[in-house]
Amino acid sequence: MEFLVKETDGDTLFRLITGIVVPRPIGWISTVSREGVYNLAPFSFFNAVNDCPPVVMVSVSDRDDGSPKDTARNILDTGEFVVNIVSEDLLEKMVITSEEFPPEVDEFKKAGLTPESSKTVKAPRVKEARAKIECRLLKHIRVYDTNLFLGEAQLIYVADHVADGEGRVDPEKLRAVGRIGGGMYVKAFGDSILRA
Ligand SMILES: Cc1cc2nc3c(=O)[nH]c(=O)nc-3n(C[C@H](O)[C@H](O)[C@H](O)COP(=O)(O)O)c2cc1C
Repeated sequence: MEFLVKETDGDTLFRLITGIVVPRPIGWISTVSREGVYNLAPFSFFNAVNDCPPVVMVSVSDRDDGSPKDTARNILDTGEFVVNIVSEDLLEKMVITSEEFPPEVDEFKKAGLTPESSKTVKAPRVKEARAKIECRLLKHIRVYDTNLFLGEAQLIYVADHVADGEGRVDPEKLRAVGRIGGGMYVKAFGDSILRA
């Protein structure tokens, strides 16, 4: 089956691109608004783009009405965000934070998560996350109806039991999950690991 993009509707293209570019890591992005309200939402159009210094990308589409999502607005207003890694035990809470709450709603409270202070940015971190990356906005690029943000890491936190002092991360202890299409997720540990 082939789909000529200019003849294919948006919903089909969304299903295709999110169905075949799999699994995608999830950047669970915490930010703070200009008014001081904490915000947390997951984004699977997310990846690492450089290692030294570490730079990550996250892409936040506009809402259907053309307005920016709270995450995009907060990153543009403050120039900062934190990437939190979703481990298996946090999957259901992560899904709660993906609901479209109004800007004055703090998703940490909605999902029963604990905000903790970051060391280098004002945006909060998710205390329960086993790994987190505090970022300053390096570049913002508009790509059609999407905001592509490049964030330069200022600090990388990994729980002591998950990594050694030289940065070797144990996937069995991180227990990260990735996204495949249609509400399905994959484990980046255990029997899912193939060695080649
Ligand atoms: C696992 C997962 C991945 C998602 N990935 C994206 C994404 O890459 N880009 C996007 O714009 N929305 C994505 N969403 C939807 C946002 O999380 C959702 O629109 C959220 O309400 C945005 O919140 P905010 O307005 O607080 O920023 C994803 C949702 C889930 C559950």
